[in-house]
Amino acid sequence: MATKRKSSLTKIATSNRKAASAAVNSPVKIALLGFGTVGSSVARVLATSKLPGVELTHIFNRDVARKRTSAAAKCVPASVVWTENFHDILHSRAEIVVELMGGLDPAEGWIRKCLAAGKSVVTANKQLIAYRGASLFRLAAKHGVQLVHGAAVAGGVPVIPGILQGLGGDQITRISGIVNGTCNYILSRMETGAEYAAVLADAQGLGYAEANPSADVDGFDARAKLCILSRIALHAELDPDAVATQTISTIEAVDFAYAKELGCTIRQVSRAQMDGGIVHARVAPMLVPQSSPIAWSHGTQNMVVTSGRFGGDVVFSGHGAGGEPTAVAVVSDILAVAQKAVAVQLPVRRRQVTGEFLAPHYLRFVVDDKPGIVSGIAGALAKVGANIDSLLQRPGYPKHKLPFVITTEPCLTSTIEKAVAAMAKFDCMLERPLCLQILTIDDKAE
Ligand SMILES: NC(=O)c1ccc[n+]([C@@H]2O[C@H](COP(=O)([O-])OP(=O)(O)OC[C@H]3O[C@@H](n4cnc5c(N)ncnc54)[C@H](OP(=O)(O)O)[C@@H]3O)[C@@H](O)[C@H]2O)c1
Repeated sequence: MATKRKSSLTKIATSNRKAASAAVNSPVKIALLGFGTVGSSVARVLATSKLPGVELTHIFNRDVARKRTSAAAKCVPASVVWTENFHDILHSRAEIVVELMGGLDPAEGWIRKCLAAGKSVVTANKQLIAYRGASLFRLAAKHGVQLVHGAAVAGGVPVIPGILQGLGGDQITRISGIVNGTCNYILSRMETGAEYAAVLADAQGLGYAEANPSADVDGFDARAKLCILSRIALHAELDPDAVATQTISTIEAVDFAYAKELGCTIRQVSRAQMDGGIVHARVAPMLVPQSSPIAWSHGTQNMVVTSGRFGGDVVFSGHGAGGEPTAVAVVSDILAVAQKAVAVQLPVRRRQVTGEFLAPHYLRFVVDDKPGIVSGIAGALAKVGANIDSLLQRPGYPKHKLPFVITTEPCLTSTIEKAVAAMAKFDCMLERPLCLQILTIDDKAE
């Protein structure tokens, strides 16, 4: 009797082990939401790399007939189920849903449903993670699944997993860098003498910039990414709308000529710095010393520099956008989730944000030249307590439309903004003075 019971228990255990081993060996099923630039590249990488342990089973997109017959669909295995009904994904056996549609709605609601249904989610959606990340991460934790977003910042550059896994042991106090490839393409082309409008038109022609380029050139895309980086590097949850932004559209070719005389170039820099319980954050075109790694990135390259209390500076750089580089980041996330790699998690706190920095500034004026202009500007700066460091005037410009530059010693952003507002009212000013921070290696937030 005892022997009989033992043998039936052994049979059950063996059959359980067989079932478990079948589950372990059967590939993790993947569903894609969105078959656009990144979604189709993810399908191509999965099909061509034939990575073990994962299997693409479903693709969702609206107007699926158009997508199925596209050239990008040729690599998709015949076994994949195409659908334009989200519920087919929700009720499928896919364990990982990969959201690559973009935008807040319907992506947020659908991701919530997938997490609540016990499916892990991989996304590249920076707006969604910047604005709704905190509550989505809580929901994922509640249901014991993962929400991973390695491609949401800097596309193919593994800055998010690099910070989480590789720098979690440091105390990062500052992050700065270039996280918008469109602005970097425009500004690095202007470095060689091209005008803003012409380069923007080229960028639109090449598909680097949207017909309405505001999200890129006015800094809104970069500030969403800066907020994501602040969460993982500074453990600070920021309100993206509270982060100061400044457009690159007011930069002119002459600014690069003056920047060069100062040993600098101009880049759209996103920077955030921890100061007690407050985060100083800003996305703006800034003068960057040519010796800084940030100045070395050209074209659509991205670059992020982290500064840690113990480990010092670490630089991440590479292709920040594009279907295939971004797909590499997405597929890496898929593999990590499929192999049950648990991401490092550290407590994150909601933090106040200010755009105030203590930095030297570059002021470019375009004036109808008359005697007394420089003394008027010096007076306006003295009134707020800002000291002039240098004055530059290149020859060859007409007197009635003369661009010249003043740089200041380090002063607060709010101080210089007060002086600029006063100087903008001078009769001689043909346009509002352009005011840019000059990035220095040891500058401080205030
Ligand atoms: N492209 C990059 O280099 C890059 C880099 C990093 C991160 N990302 C992020 O990756 C995500 C995808 O970007 P992408 O460049 O691949 O965008 P995309 O080319 O516009 O692709 C989005 C796809 O989703 C579909 N879609 C959008 N809304 C939908 C809806 N409500 N219902 C059904 N289908 C919908 C679109 O269909 P239609 O074709 O019908 O519009 C399209 O096929 C975004 O969050 C983006 O910010 C992109």
